[in-house]
Amino acid sequence: MKPVVLRTKKAARAYVTAQQKAGKTIALVPTMGALHEGHASLMRQARPKADIVIVSVFVNPTQFGPNEDFAKYPRTFQDDLLVCEREKVDAVFAPQPKDMYCGDRSAWVNEESLSRFLCGARRIGHFKGVCTVVSKLFNLFQPQVACFGKKDAQQLLILERMVRDLDFPIKVVECPLIREKSGLALSSRNKYLSPEEKKQALVLSQSLKAAKEAVSSGKSAAETKKLIAKIIATSPLAKVDYISICDRETLEEVKTFKKGQKILVALAVYFGTTRLIDNVWLTTPKK
Ligand code: PAF
Repeated sequence: MKPVVLRTKKAARAYVTAQQKAGKTIALVPTMGALHEGHASLMRQARPKADIVIVSVFVNPTQFGPNEDFAKYPRTFQDDLLVCEREKVDAVFAPQPKDMYCGDRSAWVNEESLSRFLCGARRIGHFKGVCTVVSKLFNLFQPQVACFGKKDAQQLLILERMVRDLDFPIKVVECPLIREKSGLALSSRNKYLSPEEKKQALVLSQSLKAAKEAVSSGKSAAETKKLIAKIIATSPLAKVDYISICDRETLEEVKTFKKGQKILVALAVYFGTTRLIDNVWLTTPKK
């Protein structure tokens, strides 16, 4: 069955009220569209967790900086609908920015600790835009469950912190990062890559694989970082934005590993004008 398309907040509210009256639970999958297999896997995670699955498709202007790719971000709504239909999504919310946001908006949701690091340090205001739009979606849809991918690790950790600190009665489901067979992490921004850039971007997953082995064989944080940098440097097109090995609770850079420490190895690297991120979630050896 084709999903119901909700174009306005008013339509969304009416839909949610009807579902709630019928005693249905709701799982929300927030997206910015340009849906790929990674998003489809979020929908598949959501499907058994609630009666109704709602996908939002909204390229959120408030999370893009003035020099970022808001205008050229891929918009593929008709194809997105086909993905949602295939994944048995019940409703797709696709509002216009002027319906989502009042022109004189002045209230925001901001996470102030984890947002200081990694992408938050480079994309000023990005996570404020993400937290605000996700809070708005939570208020509109009042889901019991919301699914986010580990690909955007910092986003996921910040949204979990937001849910905890602001008492949203929502279970956040951490969904696995999905890769192409080549190892390239799926991302809507992969569409920007030339064939050569795409080929060279494999250094990201290759360096993370090497990092995983290095950490499990007892190498230090500094040695692991060096190894990652060396592998990325084999690509002449790669321009490193950051290589981080950080604690998964605080996102602070780890200088010395503790035993059994939960860490995040995260990368942001430009290939041409396209900035790709990738990461791996690791635990340091227990002994
Ligand atoms: O991950 C994304 O696509 C976006 O940041 C999100 C969570 C849909 C908010 O706009």
